[in-house]
Amino acid sequence: MARNVAKSGLSTAVRPHPVIIPVASGKGGVGKSFLTANLAMALAGMGHRTIAVDLDLGGSNLHTFLGLANRYPGIGDFIHNAAPTLEGLLIDAGVPNLRFLPGDGRTPFLANLGSAQKQKLVRYIQALPADYILLDLGAGATFNTLDFFACAPTGIMVTTPDLPSVMGMQVFLKNHLLRRIDRRLSINGFRPLRPLLKGLLKEPLDRQPASLNALKSRMVQQNVNAGQALADAIAGVRPRVVFNMGLGPEESRVALNIRESMTEVLAIEPDFFGFVFHDPSVRRALVVRRPFLPNFRESMAALNILKIAERIVKYWKHPVPNSAALMINHAFQATGSLNPANP
Ligand SMILES: Nc1ncnc2c1ncn2[C@@H]1O[C@H](COP(=O)(O)OP(=O)(O)OP(=O)(O)O)[C@@H](O)[C@H]1O
Ligand SMILES: [Mg+2]
Repeated sequence: MARNVAKSGLSTAVRPHPVIIPVASGKGGVGKSFLTANLAMALAGMGHRTIAVDLDLGGSNLHTFLGLANRYPGIGDFIHNAAPTLEGLLIDAGVPNLRFLPGDGRTPFLANLGSAQKQKLVRYIQALPADYILLDLGAGATFNTLDFFACAPTGIMVTTPDLPSVMGMQVFLKNHLLRRIDRRLSINGFRPLRPLLKGLLKEPLDRQPASLNALKSRMVQQNVNAGQALADAIAGVRPRVVFNMGLGPEESRVALNIRESMTEVLAIEPDFFGFVFHDPSVRRALVVRRPFLPNFRESMAALNILKIAERIVKYWKHPVPNSAALMINHAFQATGSLNPANP
């Protein structure tokens, strides 16, 4: 991207904005850190200047998946004003084009950040020199995580194919949408609608609106402008779903149900970016303390991750047409079997 700017004749002082990719999940332990580290290595391997950021404050362990020690100052030191910039904290990750920004592994108790601290941190991250910046987030819908997820137009949602993990993802996205709606209502003209939203959400669960569209109708009953405000708040929300630890290609079909329920309940459409199989080499890489991708390049999970990196480069800024069907076909192809629904 930097090269394009130089070619186009713009001043070299103009820095193009990096593509920021937050990586989140509803449930913990689904492989966010593993995927963040390895997607970052894959993008760097394709020649893109990449930074992997450990934003799982309170649970930083991204260094482990990069094969690095936990001995560098990081975001914790920046928050405590012991480091004036983030750029000075970047570590060479041992792979060309890849740098690592450590979290708070050396400075615990950072899990609760004030909103001014969060905003400053996000501003500094957005200004880092890179083509791609991947953010490894903590699990679940805490305010920190929701705010970091919202710092970019879209992000990756990691889930395993099983129901609790998929439900967790839906809950995370619902909270993400409600936070966006609340933000939208806090600007001039819409402020009177805010107590309305809060009131609706305080009702017992069985009386709360069952879908975003139901919420919209309830709000519109009380204020005709509410529909537009809500539509504006969720416009462009298009999460990129990555399945991890798949046990067989048939599990990829869950994408069809997810697409349906996200459209029905949350009024948004996801793009399916990839299906990564459960792979014993992932554990082996950790045991020998080596980063996974460069050392197990031929393994199934490595091939799946390289495919996702290609999709990121090709499609990150655009909707992916027919992504569920494409991903399901690829999952079957990866195991050398035919998708029975598509003989
Ligand atoms: N595709 C895979 N095959 C086998 N093991 C995997 C795979 N992906 C992740 N793992 C393993 O699963 C465990 C959890 O992964 P990871 O720590 O990346 O999850 P996480 O979502 O970041 O967890 P947390 O929510 O605690 O931050 C790790 O031990 C990791 O090595
Ligand atoms: Mg993690």
